[in-house]
Amino acid sequence: MNIRTLIIAVMGTMLPSMAAAETLPVIQNVNAYESLSLNGEWNYIVDVQEEGYYDYRMKPTPWGFFRNAKPQKPEDLIEYDFDKSPTMQIPGDWNTQDERLFFYEGTVWFMRKWKVESGKWKENTEGTQEVGKRTLLYFGAVNYDCRVWVNGQEAGHHIGGFTPFNFDVTDMLKEGENTVIVKVDNKRHAEDVPTLSFDWWNYGGITRDVKLVKVAPVYLEDYSLTLEKVKGEKGKKVREICFSAKLNKAEAGHKVVVFIPELKLEKTFTTDAEGKIQNSMFSVQSKKLSLWSPENPKLYKIHLSVDSETITDEIGFRTIETRDKQILLNGQPIFLKGISIHDEKANGGGRANSTEDAHQLLSWAKELGCNFVRLAHYPHNEYMVREAERMGILVWSEVPVYWTIAWTNPATFENAQQQLTEMIHRDHNRANIIIWSIANETPHSAERDNFLGRLAQYARSLDDTRLISMAMEVTGASNYVNRLNDNMNQYVDVVSFNQYIGWYRDVNDAPKMTWEIPYNKPVIVSEFGGGAKYGYHGEKNQRWTEEFQENLYRENTAMLDKIDGLAGTTPWILKDFRSPRRVLAGIQDYYNMKGLVSDKGEKKKAFFVLQQWYETK
Ligand code: GCU
Repeated sequence: MNIRTLIIAVMGTMLPSMAAAETLPVIQNVNAYESLSLNGEWNYIVDVQEEGYYDYRMKPTPWGFFRNAKPQKPEDLIEYDFDKSPTMQIPGDWNTQDERLFFYEGTVWFMRKWKVESGKWKENTEGTQEVGKRTLLYFGAVNYDCRVWVNGQEAGHHIGGFTPFNFDVTDMLKEGENTVIVKVDNKRHAEDVPTLSFDWWNYGGITRDVKLVKVAPVYLEDYSLTLEKVKGEKGKKVREICFSAKLNKAEAGHKVVVFIPELKLEKTFTTDAEGKIQNSMFSVQSKKLSLWSPENPKLYKIHLSVDSETITDEIGFRTIETRDKQILLNGQPIFLKGISIHDEKANGGGRANSTEDAHQLLSWAKELGCNFVRLAHYPHNEYMVREAERMGILVWSEVPVYWTIAWTNPATFENAQQQLTEMIHRDHNRANIIIWSIANETPHSAERDNFLGRLAQYARSLDDTRLISMAMEVTGASNYVNRLNDNMNQYVDVVSFNQYIGWYRDVNDAPKMTWEIPYNKPVIVSEFGGGAKYGYHGEKNQRWTEEFQENLYRENTAMLDKIDGLAGTTPWILKDFRSPRRVLAGIQDYYNMKGLVSDKGEKKKAFFVLQQWYETK
């Protein structure tokens, strides 16, 4: 079983226990459907003590803000009014839009209205409420704990700040004015994913697109098209493409057509009793098929139709695998010239959430000579992944199982599993994603191994067409010999680790260092680096100067060249980014300064050291 069959099975079984019953599996390729965007100005109410949800006995109250109540009689007491409350731009975090909320962690309520007239949506696009069609309310992401009401009825609940979710709200809609109210809480808890401490800003709010999506009563909940690896000589002439799909209904006999105009390929499939098509192969002549790669980010327009409804997607075909210590893209060894990135706009702009934001960050990565990015430490917005795919940039995508997670808490495991499911579900048709990462810098213990071992196997059960990894830590270093010894090596395809020689330890000792990595697997150094303030100059042994960072990169890249099996690296990090853990006044000022470019995009000297090194790769 693999992504082509299992995702759907798991989604169906797992979610009910996690969220309110009406949560549906996330619709695949949401941007392909007719929709009404609810992006724009939303009213908001900051509710530090969750007055709008709990009564003074901290019991959920039926008179909460979700009712959007208005005084009916002069003596009526209603102590909130969304219409008179300030507004902010959605999608967007609250921290960079209201300076009172810069450090805020707690509850904020949001309200948005739209009109439906004679079945027609009335806002900024013409949408019709055709008979039988369903309306899904879709959120790209909300950090962290999100409750949603439509016209006072609870639509659902979702936790996890970096993955999409949707609710069927068809039966909650009414003629005239409709209201959606969202309670968002980004308070941190030990049992959460991520847990209490993490080195990035805990941007709160509705941070990605919100839209009403119109779907037919029976629609494609998920589908996948993947290229089989070459098997034998025949495989060289004819390539096998594997198609799987799942409808939102377990109904047999529905016709699903896959049409690839450029390849003059049209295939018709029929769903089984579960409303699925599983691992159906069709072939295409190799010479006709242009494979996706950084040099040739070829995407094919694909039309998929169920009964009479047709959606379009753009999909690339490639294979990714390992052979001993090599990573093979389309059967050829590749060195991953990477950089780590946070999902944050430049120029202090908060959470990134557009193609423009993505293009700016990825253009700097391209200038570095990168063919690969590590999207740290959580699934980034879909625009980032799709723009990287168009720009020919390979991707490492990760769930925020970061540092000291509550390993023995079953709800924490389910939460991590759900985020992993939603990440893979959203992006499993993206050719540029080659690595799913299940964790970062997690302390060794039997409980951790048990948690991560299960999570790795689960990830592989969802998708065995990609590589599984995680960012490990160097466990032993003495006499300049660095050893990697991590039980998780047995679960991953690529052995990746973070090391900070020259910054957190062994300053200027990188040239003396050697490495013992006792695993016959490709190695990725998923983090190395040091901080510098752009424009601050001095001796190379002076912390925070560009010269210190430049020297650190020189010494580290030379050291990495000595690592046997090094198949790639993603230095920490492309751009200075906000973190509440970075409080050094005059230098950090709540920014992690390990960027190769400043938050304004100013290139530090180390930028050019890495650029030159990648020219040699
Ligand atoms: C860690 C961690 C990053 C962090 C970085 C740093 O390795 O994975 O999230 O920002 O080190 O200390 O700068």
